[in-house]
This record gives sequence, C-alpha cells and structure tokens, in this order.
Amino acid sequence: MKLKLVMATNNANKLREARELLSPLGIEVLSQREAGADCDPEENGATFEENAQIKARAVFDAVGLPVIADDSGLCVDALDGAPGVYSARYAPEGERCAKLLSNMEGVSDEKRTARFVCAVCFIGEDGKAEFVRGECEGVIGHEERGTNGFGYDPVFVYGGRTLAEMSSDEKNKISHRGAAMRSLYRLLKERYGE
Ligand code: IMP
Repeated sequence: MKLKLVMATNNANKLREARELLSPLGIEVLSQREAGADCDPEENGATFEENAQIKARAVFDAVGLPVIADDSGLCVDALDGAPGVYSARYAPEGERCAKLLSNMEGVSDEKRTARFVCAVCFIGEDGKAEFVRGECEGVIGHEERGTNGFGYDPVFVYGGRTLAEMSSDEKNKISHRGAAMRSLYRLLKERYGE
C-alpha cells in the first residue's frame, strides 16, 4: 500500500511506534509538525475514542490530509479503571509510575490486573471519522523495571516482563498500539486497496 498519513500527536514515542508498525506496510507517517500543523487541543472527551477524534479533527481541519490520532491509557481494575483517559494527566512524566505504585500499595497479586487501551481515529479525505481499538492485558508490578519504552511501561508486566524490559519489536507485537495499528491497516486496505 502507498499512502501518506499525518499523525496528530506531539508525543515522539507514539510517533516512533506508529512508524515502526506502519512503514513496513508502505504507509508513510508524517508528524503534525512536518505537515505544518501546530495543534494541542483540549482533550476533554469522556472516552479514548472521543479524545482521539478531538485530536484528529484539529489536525485534519488544519492540513486537509488523511489523519490518524491515538488516544491511549492504562486502566487498572483495583482503581476502578483509573487512570484511564486521565493517564497523561495523572502525574508529571517521570512521576507517573511511582504514583501508581503507591496507589497500589497493599493490593494483592491477583487483584493487580490492568490493561492498556489504544483508540485510533482515522479521518480520510472526505472528513469522516472511523475508529479502531487495541488492548493489552497485563498486571501492575511491585516496582519499576526496565528502561525502554515510555509512560507506564516500567510497571506494566506482560508474560513475566515489563514492557520497558522488552525491545520495541517485542512490545509492538503484543501492545495495544500494535493491535490498533494492525486493525487500522485492515481498515485502510478496505478503503485504499492493497
Ligand atoms: P494521551 O493519549 O496523549 O492522552 O496520553 C496517554 C498516556 O498514557 C501517555 O502519556 C502515557 O503516560 C500512557 N500510555 C499510553 N500508551 C502507553 C504505552 O504504550 N506505554 C506506556 N504508557 C502509555
């Protein structure tokens, strides 16, 4: 597939992961800055999908090219789904994992289940919004481990290792963003052909 998309994000890690996942499939991902858009809209939606659409729409209105936006976060069962859509605002970057671990103090191993969620909004040339979603089930560990990745990766344990202990290839195979980008590819294939 030969296609150029703009990704509505200022998060370099999300951009890198989207590129790792989509460029081998022939999809070139431009950052919003490269496309000439300087957007940082208020993410005041109640769901990942609403926030993804807010971000995608702002950039689509600015550049008029096909756009994708990812809204993602971590939902922890013992915290009634928190931090959820507030994952980025839970604490400043660098303090998020520590705050989560302290809020999970005393929670037993069986009750530490959690999932990463990634909703992607795609807006094509016609301005219509479409959505795909990916999830990754794991547990919250008892300490930070590993130095790869970003955000909550050092405390999210999948198959005995944190996502921060995996290479980006390993993480992309099992991650919420990987699953969402593979669904996005199927959607784009239906629309634009092989
Ligand atoms: P937003 O989608 O820009 O609102 O931000 C989502 C926040 O969730 C990020 O800033 C991270 O803290 C967290 N997050 C989303 N995806 C990941 C991931 O793959 N690993 C670790 N943290 C993530």
